[in-house]
Amino acid sequence: MSPVAVAQRLESPVPPVFIVNAALRLRRFFLRMADAVVPSYMSVYDRFMGAAHTMLVHSAARLRIADLLTAGPLHGAEIAARAGCDADVMERTMLALVSIGIFRRLSDGRFANNRTSKGLISGATGGVRGFAEFFGHEPVMRAWARLPQTLQDGKQGFKEVHGRLAWDWMADDTAVQAAFAEGMSSMTEVVAPAIAAAYPFNEVKTVCDVGGGVGIVLAAVLRKYPHLRGILFDSESMLREASAYLRAAGIADRVDLVPGSFFDSVPRGADCYLIKTVLHNWEDAEVFKILRNCRAAMEPGQRLLVPDFLVMPDAFSTLVPFMDMAGLMIYCGRERSPERLAEMFTDTGLRMGRMVPLPGVQAVFEAVAV
Ligand SMILES: C[S@@+](CC[C@H](N)C(=O)[O-])C[C@H]1O[C@@H](n2cnc3c(N)ncnc32)[C@H](O)[C@@H]1O
Repeated sequence: MSPVAVAQRLESPVPPVFIVNAALRLRRFFLRMADAVVPSYMSVYDRFMGAAHTMLVHSAARLRIADLLTAGPLHGAEIAARAGCDADVMERTMLALVSIGIFRRLSDGRFANNRTSKGLISGATGGVRGFAEFFGHEPVMRAWARLPQTLQDGKQGFKEVHGRLAWDWMADDTAVQAAFAEGMSSMTEVVAPAIAAAYPFNEVKTVCDVGGGVGIVLAAVLRKYPHLRGILFDSESMLREASAYLRAAGIADRVDLVPGSFFDSVPRGADCYLIKTVLHNWEDAEVFKILRNCRAAMEPGQRLLVPDFLVMPDAFSTLVPFMDMAGLMIYCGRERSPERLAEMFTDTGLRMGRMVPLPGVQAVFEAVAV
């Protein structure tokens, strides 16, 4: 990505949380109304064909069909020729995608992008192409297929089906890792400016982002606070990706890249720590290890900022319940209520401080070292 594009994304205005939540509630209302005007079997049909939805969207994402249509509408056979696919199957696939509201069909039979399919364009702000590709990969689908058994025995999907963690599978497959990293990055870019605005970083000198990925949050924070230095702590392979991003963000000279595992230790020397959407990827035993290692690196009074999903009694979006199920079936993690997080902080030498809501059913939970 060019430096200008990175700067634009990191400084783009963030809609207020109450507007985002109101939009999500309104969407839920309309979806319920849509169910109310048809017989129940029609609504259920759409849901039990969910695997078809996943694979249709996965195929469109993987073949980058939305990208192909940015130059203008195309016939199914033309899309097939450009994507190296069978023309008959492409036509039928496109019609099925149109039936679920992704792409539109013009009166001359050509297909075009619509508002929804634009979310599948590569590099779109907040785009979901990467995750749409990731979640349809066969090992992920096979893990989901274990749910009836998991309901009986409580065992996690991916680990039981494949005998290893999804993270190890990703590390071995560069295409899958790239799809996941793309999805994660676009999701993080949307909230990074809100995280940078949520905390008075002018009070600290060095921020360490634990499991910080390519450094998107660190980039948003360091660009907003020019006095700050950063430590980006992640696996060696992730940090290789990070260098190019931090250079494009114009902050590479203010960031130390530290490879390592948060299960072994966390770098000392920062006066503020961050760990975004990492804890929900792990079960309690691992989270305790990560939090203890963070606490060991911190001085009393220092803060660990934990931007993560916000479990609320009224789940007005599918986002958090689905993330929780993905934790069970794919990542080997879970979503935790603010009360549960507070307990885990207490057990690891931290105490819950403020909670700042973020757009998209997320919040920054502040853990203070005691
Ligand atoms: C869900 S991603 C979150 C990335 C980033 N915090 C964000 O929100 O965009 C989880 C991150 O944890 C990193 N990670 C996984 N296991 C790790 C370990 N043992 N030690 C350090 N980082 C790890 C991954 O490489 C990945 O960047």
